[in-house]
Formats: sequence, structure tokens, C-alpha cells
Amino acid sequence: MIKLITIIGARPQIIKAAALSRAINTKFNNDITEIIVHTGQHYDENMSGVFFDELGIPKPKYNLNIGSGGHGKQTAAMITGIEEILLLEKPNAIILYGDTNSTLAGAIAASKIHVPVVHVEAGLRSFNKAMPEEVNRIMADHISTLLFTPTKTGFNNLLNEGFKQANSAPYTVNNPKIYHCGDVMYDNSIYYSNISDQKSDIIQALQLQKNKFILATIHRNNNTDEPIRLNALFNALNTLSKTNSIKIVLPLHPRTSKLLEKNLSSSLLNEIKLNTNFIITEPAGFLEMIALEKNCLMVMTDSGGVQKEAFYFKKPCAILRPETEWVELVECGAALICDANEEKIITAFNHFTSTENLNYPQFYGDGKASEFICEEIIKHLA
Ligand code: UD1
Ligand code: UDP
Repeated sequence: MIKLITIIGARPQIIKAAALSRAINTKFNNDITEIIVHTGQHYDENMSGVFFDELGIPKPKYNLNIGSGGHGKQTAAMITGIEEILLLEKPNAIILYGDTNSTLAGAIAASKIHVPVVHVEAGLRSFNKAMPEEVNRIMADHISTLLFTPTKTGFNNLLNEGFKQANSAPYTVNNPKIYHCGDVMYDNSIYYSNISDQKSDIIQALQLQKNKFILATIHRNNNTDEPIRLNALFNALNTLSKTNSIKIVLPLHPRTSKLLEKNLSSSLLNEIKLNTNFIITEPAGFLEMIALEKNCLMVMTDSGGVQKEAFYFKKPCAILRPETEWVELVECGAALICDANEEKIITAFNHFTSTENLNYPQFYGDGKASEFICEEIIKHLA
């Protein structure tokens, strides 16, 4: 029996981990025991608890309750807590998702005491080291033993950084294995799509009509913390809603919510409050989010996950960042990089509303990435 410790902390990791937990519980529970450790990076009910309930994820055995803080303080506290658990539990491996501070902390804690690291969503690069996530993911990849990348681009990025395709087992941190296996988030979108149809009533609750609203999310630190960028983004959304009589639905991340009064001009904030077509809500649950993604006209987001989910549900996307790790979305024409540039955002809206037959090729696997990951873990980390 393989004992795995899964580290989660931020919202997208809880969601990604659901895919692997589901595979373990339904197909591999004779081979794998999973212990979930929540760092507590996200802690509000609608940023954490809700996902355990609706996605049926096993409750964490440990919650470090680290909470918010500067990068150093937060990451250091996580490393300390995770190391203690690893020493106590003695797992065969640790599983890490994505690129948050919880990912980095898990990678450092485990590699220093020689617990093999499995990195899911490896190889993605924005080539912008000013992003905290870029630093986290590069560091995590380079101390991992099994690296599972969702895209061909991610695989090539790893090759370009010196990883070798031809390494043979046994795999170690000095002889790692890289896989191109598809995206566990795609597994989830397929699995939860029907469940969302049955369980979410957010479209009715917000009185929305199919293809008559833009779904937006904004939380990236360079957008929330820089007033010029935040004003440009909200101005663009407000202008779009007014000139096109279209609703904007913005489930707001707490980071952004806390900075609106401080960083948005008071006149723009007032205008938005008076604009009945500009609907700002609490963060949505995952089933609600899928319903919003499936029913919207298009998505405007700086989120990594939401960009891809837009694509899974065949919706065009304006990316509110200067670059993306998911370059294939842009290359195939389903997404446009708009940064925090009002003109580009409005041009993207006009482009997508006047372009038919956008392309949504199957870049992200076959919906079975998590099963593949479990099989490889069983083969190589027992
Ligand atoms: C983190 C990740 C980011 C990911 C995002 C997903 C890092 C460096 N960043 O960013 O890659 O895209 O999660 O959502 O790890 N807050 C609350 N309640 C919560 C959680 C956060 O109020 O439950 C507020 C706090 O004021 C906190 C701020 O949000 O200081 C930022 O939270 P933090 O986890 O540090 O970073 P995110 O911006 O959420
Ligand atoms: N998400 C959600 N509710 C929201 C916003 C996002 O459930 O209000 C989900 C979304 O569907 C996706 C994941 O959270 O699965 C993306 O997380 P987020 O945007 O916080 O982080 P990122 O992907 O940018 O790291």
C-alpha cells in the first residue's frame, strides 16, 4: 500500500485534488492511501470549506491553519508544519498541485528530508519571474521526482530546462521522470458538468439569460495591487456593460474585494454600484462556477484555471494578464491576451461577438489524467 500526502491550501488546489482523490477512491483504493494536509492558505468558507462539501473530497487529516501573510512568513510556517507531518507519517511521496506558496512549501519540506515529490501541473511557464507563481513552480519542478505536465508546451518547457525524456526507472530527484498526461482540471470539468446542471441554480438566482452576460474574475496580485491596472479593468467591464447593455457577473476573490475601496477611484466605484447590470457576488462554489462558465457569452479573467474552463465549455476568453502559461488557448484563437488594457478588452469583446466558429481542439487530454497519474505513482513509488 502506497501512502501519499496531498498538500492543498489555495482554492484551485482543493479543486484539482478532487480529481485525484476521486480516482483513488473509485479505482485505486487497494493500492493507495491518501492523507490530505490543508495548509490553511485559504480559509473563508467560500474559498475552502464549500469545495469539500460539493466535490466530496475527504476531509483533511491535518489543517495547519497558517492563514494569510507575507510570502516569507506564510511559506516558512507551512514548511515547518509540513515537515513535522512528513516525519510523523513517513509517506512514500508527497503530491503537490500548481504554483502557490503551499506548493513551494511542500516541495521544500519534502525534498530536504528525501520524501519524493510528485508535481501535478508541472512545466508551465509564464517566463515572468515577477510573478510569485513562476518562482514557486520553477523551484517545485526542479526538486520533484515525478512531474506531470498537462500540455505539450509544458513538456517542452521541461526539456528546455534540462529534464531528460529518456531517463529510466528507478526515478529519483536526481533522475526525475517527466510525463505529458493531460489536465486534471479537464477531468473535473467533464465529471462535474452534469452535476452542476442538476444542482446549481445560480443562473435563475441571478436572473441571467444564456449567452447574455460576461463572466469575469480578477485576483492576480499585479492587477489588484496596482491602482492604474485595477481601474482600467473595472472601467473596461463597466463600459462594456453600458455600451452593450450586457450583464457582467464578477464573483469577487477576497483579495480584490478588500482592495476595491482603496485602489478604485471613488467615482468609478460609485458608478459600478449604481450600474444594475454589474453584478458583484461573493466567490462562487465550483458547481455554480461551472454553470456560469457554461451559460455566459464569454469570459474575462486573470485566473489560470478559469481561462481553461472557459475553453472546456467552448467560450472565448479575454485574458487580463500580459501573458499566459496556457499559450495554446491563444494560438488557436479561442483566447486573446488583453492585459489590463481597456482598449484591448473592448476590442476582444467586439472580436469575439463578431467571429463565428471559434476552434476548441482537444489540447488537455481525454479526461483521465488523474487515473494515469495514479497508475504511474503505483508503478514507481511503491
Ligand atoms: C493565491 C496564489 C495564486 C492563486 C490564488 C488562487 C500564491 C502566491 N498565490 O493567491 O497563485 O491563483 O491563490 O485563488 O500562493 N484572503 C481572504 N480569505 C481567504 C484567502 C485569502 O480574505 O480565505 C485574502 C487575504 O487578505 C489575503 C489575500 O486574500 O492576504 C491573498 O491571499 P493569498 O492566499 O496570499 O494569495 P491569493 O491572492 O489568494
Ligand atoms: N473558482 C470557483 N469560484 C470562483 C472563482 C473560481 O470555484 O468564484 C474556481 C474555478 O472554476 C477554477 C478555480 O477556482 O476551477 C480557479 O482558481 P483561481 O481563479 O482562484 O486560481 P488560479 O487558477 O488563477 O490559480
